[in-house]
Amino acid sequence: MRSDAWFGEVAGVRDAYIHRAWMRRGTPADSFDGRPHIAIANTASDLTPCNAHLDEVARSVQAGIWAAGGVPHVMPVMSLGETLMRPTAMLWRNLAAMSIEEMLRANPVDGVVLMGGCDKTIPSLLMAASSVDLPAVVVPGGPMLTGTFRGRPLGCGTDVWRLSEEVRAGTLSAAEFSSSESSMIRSAGHCNTMGTASTMACMAEALGMTIPGFAGVPAVDARLRSMAHETGRLAVRLVHEDRRPSTVMTAMSFRNAIVTLAVIGGSTNAVVHLLAIAGRLGVDLGLDDFDRIGHDVPLLVNLQPSGEHLMDDFFRAGGLRAALREVADLLSPDAVTVTGQPFVAGLDEVSTFDTDVVRSRSEPLQPAAGIAVLRGNLAPDGAIIKPSAASPELLVHRGPALVFDSIEDAHARLDDPDLDVTADSVLVLRGCGPRGYPGMPEVGNLPLPRALLRAGVRDMVRVSDARMSGTAYGTVVLHVAPEAAAGGPLARLRTGDLVELDVPSRRLEAVVDPQEWASRTPAATSTDAYARPVRGWERLYVDHVLQADRGADLDFLVGRSGAEVARESH
Ligand code: FES
Repeated sequence: MRSDAWFGEVAGVRDAYIHRAWMRRGTPADSFDGRPHIAIANTASDLTPCNAHLDEVARSVQAGIWAAGGVPHVMPVMSLGETLMRPTAMLWRNLAAMSIEEMLRANPVDGVVLMGGCDKTIPSLLMAASSVDLPAVVVPGGPMLTGTFRGRPLGCGTDVWRLSEEVRAGTLSAAEFSSSESSMIRSAGHCNTMGTASTMACMAEALGMTIPGFAGVPAVDARLRSMAHETGRLAVRLVHEDRRPSTVMTAMSFRNAIVTLAVIGGSTNAVVHLLAIAGRLGVDLGLDDFDRIGHDVPLLVNLQPSGEHLMDDFFRAGGLRAALREVADLLSPDAVTVTGQPFVAGLDEVSTFDTDVVRSRSEPLQPAAGIAVLRGNLAPDGAIIKPSAASPELLVHRGPALVFDSIEDAHARLDDPDLDVTADSVLVLRGCGPRGYPGMPEVGNLPLPRALLRAGVRDMVRVSDARMSGTAYGTVVLHVAPEAAAGGPLARLRTGDLVELDVPSRRLEAVVDPQEWASRTPAATSTDAYARPVRGWERLYVDHVLQADRGADLDFLVGRSGAEVARESH
């Protein structure tokens, strides 16, 4: 065991004494007889409300670890609350991953159970586990139960966007909107749409990193507790069998994740997170793989924001495995899970209990729903769009650009009654990429101009170097790379230039004379609202963050360092 280096004879008499003595706070003496010590990396925090119940779930994991002959250690780790953190939780995903990786390496643990839920928590845990490459398994915290407002279900996030646009359009009063607030969050758990949290739980399962069937079990369901217990037991077995993230998350697993992302109509944020995780593992995954593998995969899961239902309905209908049974032929038969079994094992025995929520292959919501990767003179390194959440009639569109240099600029002008904008305009937001904002916030789905909303317009083409919430929808081109603040050509665009979006041809172009385009001086995109950082994490982040097409990881965090510790301080 790796932990023998702390607790066993190899540590030396005095040092082993110190390490064991300080751990003896009710720990049985046989805890140090060479059995696996398992960290429970726990992202519970009152300021990450979606994960606040994880302390309770950790108790089930602990019990499972003890039952299987291991020794559990709850290890609170950096947690990122999506709704609260300013300027954006994404600014710290890499910091969370780095700190978790370092804590796992520094401590006497042989394996780890990764407990996450809210958007950035599962990605940062998986990035950390990949770089330290100790045996690891994920416990997804589960979605909340469905809240209702005046008898209608409320989708976290998606309905906030929809209702707030109704207020701006004048079709819903501000008082009615705020009275829905107390109905939105009904129970413990993360957002109940197929937003980023639900998507990343499904991605963890598709990568093979959970017990099969775990993603989507509601946070308050008794089955989540029993699967957490089972996961604790499995963590001990993982150590004995030396099954590590690098042996589970292979190129085949990423293929399965991309197929899954299309089937569920998952969040665009999964693209940057999967790229970052693959980068840690040394798996050769590029932006174009999402289009190549996912392009013809049908959308089968009828959940907001691409469809109607919510995670509770998905679970009742049979869940992720029921949806994946329909596309079993598209999944890699060689990918394995943390159980050691093939990912596709047992899929043919799964049932669907509601075919409106989980559609059959013959009656998909959309026949081809994968993320589309666009290129052109506006995005030489790529940009993405989620066709399943877009308006079909806008997927081929040409219109004049209306350019905003920051989100503050957009907010200041979008509701101006004199704004020169039509439904054909292309709203362009720049200066909001990884480096420019910094942190690549979820602002790419710009609100529509109030005047157009009042005229009944509900979607427009939008283009940005930002991300958007996984709960959002619309014809929104995101993650333009390189971003404007990194010298990307988006900075050369001017209001009035024609922009052409052609999703079937995978093109995003500024229709500008090439000579003039090449000679233009890029616009300054820094904002007064957010001065360039001079110290601390933000400085490190801005100096080292990679572009979206490489997962927005830090350049020096790509790859693995393993779990070796070279020196001992005593
Ligand atoms: Fe935490 Fe949506 S805000 S999952």
